[in-house]
Amino acid sequence: MTVKTFFYGLIASFGLPWLVMLAVPFGTMRSMEAPSYDEVNDERTDLYQPTRSGRTENGSLIYAQEGCAMCHSQVTRPTYAGMDVFREGQGGTKKDAERGDTRRITNAWDFSGENRAHIGESRIGPDLGNFGNRLVALENEENEKAAIAMGIALEREDKSKLTKQEIIDALGDKAFNKELYVYKHLYSPRNEGHEDRGQENEWSVCQANPQFFKKIGNFGQGASDAVAIKCGKQVVPNDNCRAIVSYLMSLKKDGAVPYAMQYSKDKKKAGK
Ligand code: HEC
Repeated sequence: MTVKTFFYGLIASFGLPWLVMLAVPFGTMRSMEAPSYDEVNDERTDLYQPTRSGRTENGSLIYAQEGCAMCHSQVTRPTYAGMDVFREGQGGTKKDAERGDTRRITNAWDFSGENRAHIGESRIGPDLGNFGNRLVALENEENEKAAIAMGIALEREDKSKLTKQEIIDALGDKAFNKELYVYKHLYSPRNEGHEDRGQENEWSVCQANPQFFKKIGNFGQGASDAVAIKCGKQVVPNDNCRAIVSYLMSLKKDGAVPYAMQYSKDKKKAGK
């Protein structure tokens, strides 16, 4: 082999992947315009912008540092690449009380404004793109169960249903605590020490995160967010834990996209 062909080979083997995997996607995606709603079908004309709330920026940084993206994706794949949309709760839900069918695939704009797009390396754990929504669904389910167990009627005398907030108020401190549920998961995904969550997670390979917790004295009535008692001390989440949980709870990639991008057959309803 001559030196010349060697260098051509070198350029081809590094240059081509660079071109195809970095330069072309960068060129095409950096100037993508946000999709706009159309007046006829969406009855609005602004641009699609996902909204977020919570400690998304520092929570996302901790998510990156801890390598959560090694096992968790945040992408509902297009239907030609997987059956994601049909998995209840993954890309939205089939029967949302207010919006109808909210299922859809993830799009590039869902990550706009974020410093890191945690699309994920593999899917050893469940996709977390809509974890925030699944958590709210679980909260409603658990609260209704608790209300029935406590003999609280879910309907008023005129047969109208109680709102979520009314059920929470009626349950008081028996209401489902979303943050605590996630704290407990992060502390011990296998449920060691809190069998109240059931034993179905015995096999979990999600990482335990003792680095997210600190021990404080066990005084008075105890901290409302303590995940365990160890050697007479309460184990409570530290600030990093609160930030990452706030971030996880903000994960909702089901914003109402323009008509043309919706999955649902009942398109008009989902866009509202
Ligand atoms: C080694 C792979 C792996 C890593 C790394 C990992 N997880 Fe998991 N995770 C899993 C698996 C598997 C499950 C499903 C079993 C379960 O629920 O415990 C899961 C479940 C979860 C769930 C519950 C999801 C649901 O829909 O109920 C959350 C939340 C979660 N992980 C967050 C995290 C966070 C935050 C990190 C980083 C600190 C992380 N995981 C790192 C594998 C992993």
